[in-house]
Amino acid sequence: NWTPEIFIESTVRQLREKLGNDRVVLGLSGGVDSSVAAMLIHEAIGENLYCIFVDSGLLRKREFEDVLHSYKDLGLNVKGVNAKSRFYDALAGISDPELKRKAIGRTFIDVFDAEAHKIQGVKWLGQGTIYPDVIESVSVKGPSVTIKSHHNVGGLPEKMQLKVVEPLNTLFKDEVRVVGRTLAIPDNIISRHPFPGPGLAIRILGEVTAEKVQTLQEVDDIFITSLKERGFYNEVWQAGAILLPVQSVGVMGDERTYESVVALRAVTSVDGMTADWAHLPHEFLADVSSEIINKVKGVNRVVYDISSKPPATIEWE
Ligand code: XMP
Repeated sequence: NWTPEIFIESTVRQLREKLGNDRVVLGLSGGVDSSVAAMLIHEAIGENLYCIFVDSGLLRKREFEDVLHSYKDLGLNVKGVNAKSRFYDALAGISDPELKRKAIGRTFIDVFDAEAHKIQGVKWLGQGTIYPDVIESVSVKGPSVTIKSHHNVGGLPEKMQLKVVEPLNTLFKDEVRVVGRTLAIPDNIISRHPFPGPGLAIRILGEVTAEKVQTLQEVDDIFITSLKERGFYNEVWQAGAILLPVQSVGVMGDERTYESVVALRAVTSVDGMTADWAHLPHEFLADVSSEIINKVKGVNRVVYDISSKPPATIEWE
Protein backbone atom coordinates (compact mmCIF):
# COMPACT_ATOMS: atom_id res chain seq x y z
CA ASN A 1 0.00 0.00 0.00
CA TRP A 2 1.50 3.17 -1.38
CA THR A 3 1.43 6.34 0.72
CA PRO A 4 2.98 9.71 -0.19
CA GLU A 5 4.80 9.86 3.15
CA ILE A 6 6.55 6.53 2.60
CA PHE A 7 7.32 7.42 -1.02
CA ILE A 8 8.85 10.74 0.01
CA GLU A 9 10.89 9.25 2.82
CA SER A 10 12.37 6.44 0.78
CA THR A 11 12.93 8.59 -2.32
CA VAL A 12 14.74 11.29 -0.37
CA ARG A 13 16.93 8.67 1.30
CA GLN A 14 17.79 7.08 -2.05
CA LEU A 15 18.50 10.47 -3.63
CA ARG A 16 20.86 11.35 -0.78
CA GLU A 17 22.78 8.11 -1.23
CA LYS A 18 22.93 8.45 -4.99
CA LEU A 19 23.85 12.14 -5.18
CA GLY A 20 26.08 12.55 -2.14
CA ASN A 21 27.71 15.97 -2.41
CA ASP A 22 27.20 16.23 -6.17
CA ARG A 23 25.55 19.21 -7.77
CA VAL A 24 22.35 18.83 -9.78
CA VAL A 25 20.81 21.20 -12.33
CA LEU A 26 17.09 21.07 -13.11
CA GLY A 27 14.87 23.04 -15.49
CA LEU A 28 11.61 24.17 -13.91
CA SER A 29 8.65 24.68 -16.23
CA GLY A 30 5.97 25.92 -13.84
CA GLY A 31 4.22 22.57 -14.19
CA VAL A 32 3.48 19.94 -11.57
CA ASP A 33 6.09 17.36 -12.53
CA SER A 34 9.23 19.47 -12.61
CA SER A 35 8.15 21.27 -9.43
CA VAL A 36 7.60 18.08 -7.45
CA ALA A 37 10.85 16.56 -8.76
CA ALA A 38 12.69 19.72 -7.69
CA MET A 39 11.21 19.66 -4.18
CA LEU A 40 12.18 16.02 -3.65
CA ILE A 41 15.76 16.62 -4.78
CA HIS A 42 15.85 19.80 -2.70
CA GLU A 43 14.76 17.82 0.38
CA ALA A 44 17.65 15.45 -0.28
CA ILE A 45 20.53 17.78 -1.17
CA GLY A 46 19.40 21.35 -0.39
CA GLU A 47 21.49 24.09 -1.99
CA ASN A 48 23.34 21.64 -4.23
CA LEU A 49 20.23 21.67 -6.40
CA TYR A 50 20.39 24.51 -8.93
CA CYS A 51 17.08 25.24 -10.65
CA ILE A 52 16.73 27.20 -13.86
CA PHE A 53 13.43 28.67 -15.01
CA VAL A 54 13.54 30.02 -18.54
CA ASP A 55 11.17 32.74 -19.72
CA SER A 56 10.64 31.78 -23.36
CA GLY A 57 8.20 34.64 -23.90
CA LEU A 58 5.69 31.91 -24.78
CA LEU A 59 4.15 31.48 -21.33
CA ARG A 60 0.80 32.77 -20.15
CA LYS A 61 0.33 36.33 -18.99
CA ARG A 62 2.25 36.99 -15.70
CA GLU A 63 3.09 33.29 -15.48
CA PHE A 64 6.84 33.72 -15.27
CA GLU A 65 6.75 36.26 -12.44
CA ASP A 66 4.03 34.42 -10.48
CA VAL A 67 5.64 31.03 -10.66
CA LEU A 68 9.15 32.31 -9.97
CA HIS A 69 7.74 33.89 -6.83
CA SER A 70 6.15 30.60 -5.73
CA TYR A 71 9.42 28.76 -6.28
CA LYS A 72 11.35 31.23 -4.18
CA ASP A 73 8.75 30.92 -1.41
CA LEU A 74 9.34 27.17 -1.44
CA GLY A 75 13.01 27.80 -0.70
CA LEU A 76 14.28 26.54 -4.04
CA ASN A 77 17.58 27.83 -5.32
CA VAL A 78 16.17 29.09 -8.63
CA LYS A 79 17.48 31.39 -11.31
CA GLY A 80 15.01 33.04 -13.67
CA VAL A 81 16.41 33.64 -17.15
CA ASN A 82 14.80 36.09 -19.55
CA ALA A 83 15.33 34.60 -23.00
CA LYS A 84 12.27 36.02 -24.75
CA SER A 85 14.07 37.66 -27.62
CA ARG A 86 16.19 34.55 -28.26
CA PHE A 87 13.00 32.56 -28.74
CA TYR A 88 11.23 35.21 -30.85
CA ASP A 89 14.31 35.48 -33.07
CA ALA A 90 14.48 31.71 -33.46
CA LEU A 91 10.80 31.60 -34.45
CA ALA A 92 10.88 34.46 -36.94
CA GLY A 93 9.65 33.44 -40.38
CA ILE A 94 8.63 29.90 -39.32
CA SER A 95 5.01 28.73 -39.79
CA ASP A 96 5.30 24.95 -39.80
CA PRO A 97 4.30 23.46 -36.41
CA GLU A 98 7.08 20.89 -36.33
CA LEU A 99 9.72 23.44 -37.29
CA LYS A 100 8.44 25.71 -34.53
CA ARG A 101 8.79 22.89 -32.00
CA LYS A 102 12.31 22.16 -33.23
CA ALA A 103 13.35 25.82 -33.07
CA ILE A 104 11.98 26.11 -29.53
CA GLY A 105 13.62 22.85 -28.36
CA ARG A 106 16.98 23.92 -29.81
CA THR A 107 16.78 27.39 -28.28
CA PHE A 108 15.83 25.96 -24.91
CA ILE A 109 18.81 23.61 -24.96
CA ASP A 110 21.18 26.46 -25.90
CA VAL A 111 19.88 28.77 -23.17
CA PHE A 112 19.80 26.04 -20.53
CA ASP A 113 23.23 24.71 -21.45
CA ALA A 114 24.78 28.18 -21.22
CA GLU A 115 23.24 28.70 -17.78
CA ALA A 116 24.21 25.24 -16.54
CA HIS A 117 27.82 25.89 -17.54
CA LYS A 118 27.91 28.76 -15.08
CA ILE A 119 27.45 26.24 -12.25
CA GLN A 120 30.78 24.81 -11.12
CA GLY A 121 31.15 21.03 -11.36
CA VAL A 122 27.54 20.05 -11.98
CA LYS A 123 27.22 16.29 -12.54
CA TRP A 124 23.51 15.54 -12.79
CA LEU A 125 20.47 16.69 -14.72
CA GLY A 126 17.26 16.39 -12.69
CA GLN A 127 14.04 15.75 -14.65
CA GLY A 128 10.36 15.45 -13.82
CA THR A 129 9.72 12.44 -16.08
CA ILE A 130 6.68 10.49 -14.87
CA TYR A 131 5.73 6.88 -15.61
CA PRO A 132 3.37 7.58 -18.57
CA ASP A 133 6.16 9.61 -20.22
CA VAL A 134 8.43 6.58 -20.00
CA ILE A 135 5.78 4.53 -21.81
CA GLU A 136 4.83 7.26 -24.27
CA SER A 137 8.38 7.80 -25.43
CA VAL A 138 8.20 4.34 -27.00
CA SER A 139 4.71 4.82 -28.44
CA VAL A 140 4.21 4.93 -32.18
CA LYS A 141 2.18 8.14 -32.37
CA GLY A 142 3.53 10.99 -34.45
CA PRO A 143 6.06 13.24 -32.75
CA SER A 144 3.89 16.31 -33.04
CA VAL A 145 1.26 15.03 -30.68
CA THR A 146 2.97 12.82 -28.13
CA ILE A 147 6.06 14.85 -27.35
CA LYS A 148 6.11 16.11 -23.80
CA SER A 149 8.24 18.99 -22.62
CA HIS A 150 11.14 16.86 -21.46
CA HIS A 151 11.11 14.96 -24.74
CA ASN A 152 11.28 18.28 -26.51
CA VAL A 153 14.68 18.70 -24.87
CA GLY A 154 15.65 15.07 -25.28
CA GLY A 155 19.10 16.01 -26.57
CA LEU A 156 19.95 17.83 -23.37
CA PRO A 157 21.75 15.22 -21.21
CA GLU A 158 23.89 14.05 -24.14
CA LYS A 159 24.92 17.56 -25.06
CA MET A 160 25.74 18.41 -21.47
CA GLN A 161 27.26 15.02 -20.65
CA LEU A 162 25.30 14.76 -17.45
CA LYS A 163 23.87 11.78 -15.66
CA VAL A 164 20.08 11.90 -15.36
CA VAL A 165 18.11 11.66 -12.13
CA GLU A 166 14.33 11.17 -12.40
CA PRO A 167 12.68 10.66 -9.00
CA LEU A 168 9.11 10.49 -10.38
CA ASN A 169 9.56 7.91 -13.12
CA THR A 170 7.44 5.29 -11.33
CA LEU A 171 4.49 7.60 -10.59
CA PHE A 172 1.25 8.50 -12.35
CA LYS A 173 0.09 12.11 -12.51
CA ASP A 174 -2.45 11.80 -9.67
CA GLU A 175 0.26 10.30 -7.44
CA VAL A 176 2.61 13.15 -8.34
CA ARG A 177 -0.12 15.61 -7.26
CA VAL A 178 -0.60 13.78 -3.93
CA VAL A 179 3.15 13.83 -3.31
CA GLY A 180 3.26 17.53 -4.23
CA ARG A 181 0.47 18.39 -1.78
CA THR A 182 2.21 16.40 0.96
CA LEU A 183 5.35 18.46 0.25
CA ALA A 184 3.20 21.60 0.75
CA ILE A 185 3.62 22.85 -2.81
CA PRO A 186 0.94 25.51 -3.34
CA ASP A 187 -2.26 24.77 -5.19
CA ASN A 188 -1.52 27.24 -8.00
CA ILE A 189 1.21 24.80 -9.08
CA ILE A 190 -0.37 21.46 -8.11
CA SER A 191 -3.80 22.01 -9.71
CA ARG A 192 -2.45 23.67 -12.83
CA HIS A 193 -3.74 22.43 -16.16
CA PRO A 194 -1.20 20.73 -18.41
CA PHE A 195 0.54 23.25 -20.67
CA PRO A 196 2.55 22.27 -23.75
CA GLY A 197 6.32 22.72 -23.67
CA PRO A 198 6.28 24.95 -26.80
CA GLY A 199 3.70 27.09 -25.04
CA LEU A 200 1.67 29.70 -26.86
CA ALA A 201 3.77 29.22 -30.01
CA ILE A 202 1.59 26.27 -31.03
CA ARG A 203 -1.58 28.23 -30.24
CA ILE A 204 -0.64 30.99 -32.67
CA LEU A 205 -1.31 29.35 -36.02
CA GLY A 206 1.31 30.40 -38.52
CA GLU A 207 4.20 32.69 -37.73
CA VAL A 208 4.78 33.76 -34.12
CA THR A 209 5.52 37.40 -33.31
CA ALA A 210 5.85 39.21 -29.99
CA GLU A 211 2.74 41.22 -30.83
CA LYS A 212 0.63 38.12 -31.51
CA VAL A 213 1.86 36.56 -28.26
CA GLN A 214 0.70 39.62 -26.37
CA THR A 215 -2.75 39.52 -27.99
CA LEU A 216 -3.13 35.84 -27.22
CA GLN A 217 -1.95 36.30 -23.62
CA GLU A 218 -4.71 38.86 -23.05
CA VAL A 219 -7.38 36.58 -24.56
CA ASP A 220 -6.15 33.52 -22.67
CA ASP A 221 -5.99 35.44 -19.39
CA ILE A 222 -9.63 36.54 -19.69
CA PHE A 223 -10.72 32.97 -20.43
CA ILE A 224 -8.68 31.30 -17.66
CA THR A 225 -9.53 33.95 -15.05
CA SER A 226 -13.23 33.58 -15.87
CA LEU A 227 -13.02 29.79 -15.60
CA LYS A 228 -11.47 30.18 -12.15
CA GLU A 229 -13.95 32.84 -11.00
CA ARG A 230 -16.94 30.78 -12.06
CA GLY A 231 -15.60 27.54 -10.58
CA PHE A 232 -15.10 25.73 -13.90
CA TYR A 233 -11.29 25.63 -13.89
CA ASN A 234 -10.99 22.40 -11.90
CA GLU A 235 -13.80 20.78 -13.88
CA VAL A 236 -11.93 20.95 -17.16
CA TRP A 237 -8.73 19.09 -17.89
CA GLN A 238 -7.16 21.77 -20.05
CA ALA A 239 -8.24 25.09 -21.54
CA GLY A 240 -6.78 27.85 -23.63
CA ALA A 241 -7.19 30.09 -26.63
CA ILE A 242 -5.93 29.86 -30.18
CA LEU A 243 -5.13 32.84 -32.39
CA LEU A 244 -6.25 32.02 -35.92
CA PRO A 245 -4.43 33.27 -39.02
CA VAL A 246 -7.58 34.79 -40.51
CA GLN A 247 -9.18 38.21 -40.39
CA SER A 248 -12.93 38.62 -40.32
CA VAL A 249 -15.23 41.55 -40.91
CA GLY A 250 -16.96 43.25 -38.01
CA VAL A 251 -18.63 46.55 -37.18
CA MET A 252 -17.72 49.07 -34.54
CA GLY A 253 -19.96 52.16 -34.48
CA ASP A 254 -20.18 53.25 -38.11
CA GLU A 255 -16.88 51.65 -38.99
CA ARG A 256 -16.22 48.33 -40.63
CA THR A 257 -13.41 46.39 -38.94
CA TYR A 258 -11.24 43.63 -40.34
CA GLU A 259 -9.59 41.90 -37.41
CA SER A 260 -8.45 38.63 -35.86
CA VAL A 261 -10.52 35.62 -34.84
CA VAL A 262 -9.73 33.61 -31.71
CA ALA A 263 -10.93 30.13 -30.83
CA LEU A 264 -11.53 29.03 -27.26
CA ARG A 265 -10.79 25.40 -26.41
CA ALA A 266 -11.70 23.61 -23.19
CA VAL A 267 -11.71 19.83 -22.82
CA THR A 268 -12.50 17.16 -20.30
CA SER A 269 -10.14 14.19 -20.24
CA VAL A 270 -8.46 11.65 -17.99
CA ASP A 271 -5.04 11.48 -19.56
CA GLY A 272 -5.09 13.67 -22.68
CA MET A 273 -5.10 10.67 -25.00
CA THR A 274 -8.83 11.08 -25.63
CA ALA A 275 -10.84 14.18 -24.81
CA ASP A 276 -14.32 15.64 -25.11
CA TRP A 277 -15.03 19.32 -25.62
CA ALA A 278 -16.23 20.82 -22.35
CA HIS A 279 -19.95 21.60 -22.33
CA LEU A 280 -19.56 25.01 -20.68
CA PRO A 281 -22.79 27.01 -20.21
CA HIS A 282 -23.69 29.27 -23.12
CA GLU A 283 -24.13 32.28 -20.80
CA PHE A 284 -20.60 31.78 -19.52
CA LEU A 285 -19.20 31.60 -23.05
CA ALA A 286 -21.20 34.68 -24.01
CA ASP A 287 -19.70 36.66 -21.12
CA VAL A 288 -16.16 35.56 -21.95
CA SER A 289 -16.70 36.39 -25.62
CA SER A 290 -17.94 39.94 -24.94
CA GLU A 291 -15.15 40.62 -22.50
CA ILE A 292 -12.54 39.50 -25.03
CA ILE A 293 -14.02 41.53 -27.88
CA ASN A 294 -14.43 44.62 -25.69
CA LYS A 295 -11.01 44.50 -24.10
CA VAL A 296 -8.56 42.95 -26.53
CA LYS A 297 -7.49 45.22 -29.33
CA GLY A 298 -7.36 43.56 -32.74
CA VAL A 299 -9.85 40.77 -31.97
CA ASN A 300 -13.42 41.08 -33.27
CA ARG A 301 -14.67 37.49 -33.26
CA VAL A 302 -14.62 34.56 -30.82
CA VAL A 303 -15.53 30.96 -31.67
CA TYR A 304 -15.76 27.87 -29.43
CA ASP A 305 -14.17 24.59 -30.52
CA ILE A 306 -16.71 21.73 -30.26
CA SER A 307 -14.48 18.92 -31.56
CA SER A 308 -13.54 15.84 -29.59
CA LYS A 309 -10.32 13.84 -29.66
CA PRO A 310 -10.14 11.71 -31.68
CA PRO A 311 -10.27 12.68 -34.46
CA ALA A 312 -9.39 16.26 -33.51
CA THR A 313 -6.43 16.81 -31.19
CA ILE A 314 -6.47 19.09 -28.14
CA GLU A 315 -4.02 21.55 -29.67
CA TRP A 316 -4.57 22.98 -33.13
CA GLU A 317 -0.96 22.52 -34.24
P1 XMP B 1 -2.86 16.81 -28.50
O1 XMP B 1 -2.88 18.13 -29.20
O2 XMP B 1 -1.93 15.83 -29.11
O3 XMP B 1 -2.30 17.11 -27.05
O4 XMP B 1 -4.24 16.24 -28.31
C1 XMP B 1 -2.26 16.16 -26.00
C2 XMP B 1 -1.56 16.82 -24.84
O5 XMP B 1 -0.19 17.06 -25.15
C3 XMP B 1 0.10 18.43 -25.10
N1 XMP B 1 1.04 18.74 -26.18
C4 XMP B 1 2.35 18.96 -26.00
N2 XMP B 1 3.08 18.99 -24.88
N3 XMP B 1 5.00 19.49 -26.16
C5 XMP B 1 4.41 19.26 -24.97
O6 XMP B 1 5.10 19.33 -23.97
C6 XMP B 1 4.34 19.45 -27.34
O7 XMP B 1 4.91 19.65 -28.40
C7 XMP B 1 2.93 19.18 -27.24
N4 XMP B 1 1.95 19.06 -28.16
C8 XMP B 1 0.79 18.82 -27.49
C9 XMP B 1 -1.23 19.14 -25.23
O8 XMP B 1 -1.20 20.44 -24.64
C10 XMP B 1 -2.15 18.19 -24.49
O9 XMP B 1 -2.06 18.36 -23.10
